[in-house]
Formats: sequence, C-alpha cells, structure tokens
Amino acid sequence: MSGVFVKNMSFKVGQTLTITGVAKPDATNFAVNVGHGEDNVVLHLNPRFDAHGDQRTVVCNSYQGGNWCEELREGNFPFQQGEEFKIMVTFTSQEFQVTLPDGFVIQFPNRSGDEKFQYMNFDGEMRVHSIEIK
Ligand code: GAL
Repeated sequence: MSGVFVKNMSFKVGQTLTITGVAKPDATNFAVNVGHGEDNVVLHLNPRFDAHGDQRTVVCNSYQGGNWCEELREGNFPFQQGEEFKIMVTFTSQEFQVTLPDGFVIQFPNRSGDEKFQYMNFDGEMRVHSIEIK
C-alpha cells in the first residue's frame, strides 16, 4: 500500500469520520482503508472507475492475515474523476455504515468486532482534502 497514512488516530464506536477529497482526473480507482495497520484492514472502501475488471463500482472488503476476505458490491457509483467527494463513516461492533456522496449508505460487516481503530490509509488516485472525526 502507498499513499497517506494516519497511524495514531482514535476512531471509536459512535463517532463519525468525514473525509473529503478529490479523485484524480485520470483515476482508475482509489481506496480508503480503516483498521489497525497495513496487514489488518477492517474496512477497505474501493471506488473503481475502471480497475481490477470493474467499471464504476464501489467494492468493500477487509484484509486480514495476508488475505482479502469476501467482497461486497453495493450502491451506485456517485464519484466523478476530478471532482471533490465526501464520504462519512460510522460503525458499531457489528457493522460499518458508509455514506456515499449521493447519500446511499453501505452497510458492511465489522468482521473484527472492534470498537476502536487507530489506522487509516488513503491509497490510489486521489488527494485528501480533509479528515474529521467527531
Ligand atoms: C483486489 C485488489 C485489492 C482490493 C481487493 C478487494 O482485487 O487487488 O486492491 O481492492 O481486490 O477485495
């Protein structure tokens, strides 16, 4: 993984993480990863403009013990290359709720059951504008 790393944050159950950023004009995909570290990602949110065989699809997954788990594909594709987006994430020990820019909420299982995460990473063809946890 590459990109921007946040390694000592405190993102807890009940809080809302708001991310704004912009997909690069020629973006093929980008990812927001939340969890405990590079090898322990509990939420991988991966908007794919055209990548890994998908067009205009949001793929969610988790990554543990060196393996990707089961993918979830949900919602429309409310992202545009070169345009700013806003994503909001909140979670319980059961699931993540990810609000996409069109207001659709993806529900993705919290496969670790954890109530606090320290690590966040932004990967791929995007730039981060702001990160807020409230
Ligand atoms: C893979 C891709 C990873 C990740 C994963 C999600 O195909 O290489 O970057 O997106 O899918 O399941």
